[in-house]
Amino acid sequence: MKTQTELKKEVALAACQQLTPGMLLGIGTGSTIDLFIEAMAEMGVLPRAAVSSSERSTERLRALGVEVWPLDRLEAPLDLYIDGADEVDPQACLIKGGGAALTREKIVASASRRFLCLVDASKEVSVLGSFALPVEFLAIAQRPVFWALQALGGEPRLREGVITDNGNPVVDVHGLRIAQPADLEDRINAIPGVVENGIFARHRADEVLVATPSGVLRRHRPATS
Ligand code: 5RP
Repeated sequence: MKTQTELKKEVALAACQQLTPGMLLGIGTGSTIDLFIEAMAEMGVLPRAAVSSSERSTERLRALGVEVWPLDRLEAPLDLYIDGADEVDPQACLIKGGGAALTREKIVASASRRFLCLVDASKEVSVLGSFALPVEFLAIAQRPVFWALQALGGEPRLREGVITDNGNPVVDVHGLRIAQPADLEDRINAIPGVVENGIFARHRADEVLVATPSGVLRRHRPATS
């Protein structure tokens, strides 16, 4: 039986096959992406430059000699954004933010032509929401943000001791069954004081590579939804 880390390594290696020389890459955050960064170095397919979604990934990229650019250096969208996820539904909508990098991740995804998501099979769900939904918010707005999240049917729990790279706290919202991800993504982002939430429906993945015990599967997002 393969471990989750072995599966993450396999999907990281599989993603390297989609890279071509001279690419400008958007790079996500998390343990899968740490393995992907290592895999790019192992396979000799490091990008020309990258835009990173976190200080953590920036450090790892720079340690390998990759130039990390700010978004405002781009003259056109990035070729490809590569990131992990906490949950993936059949429409390739995601929950992200387990690593508290959701806001920058969504910004870099929005600045990319294509989003390739790397997961192991344990992340696949029929409906999003078993993984508590991360929401980054402004500290001064904690009370009203929590009330509004409760009114949406969730149970907000502050992520103790965590401050994002943007200097804000994160709340994990338990107990949501997210059958209409795009609608809930918009509703949560309309709450005053919310910076961003971890539903990626407006910026869902174009392709998901899923590491299973019998190999890596490619799932393209359905065209009609
Ligand atoms: C970070 C994220 C990660 O992509 C997500 O938490 C998955 O992490 P891992 O690859 O460690 O399982 O959204 O904010």
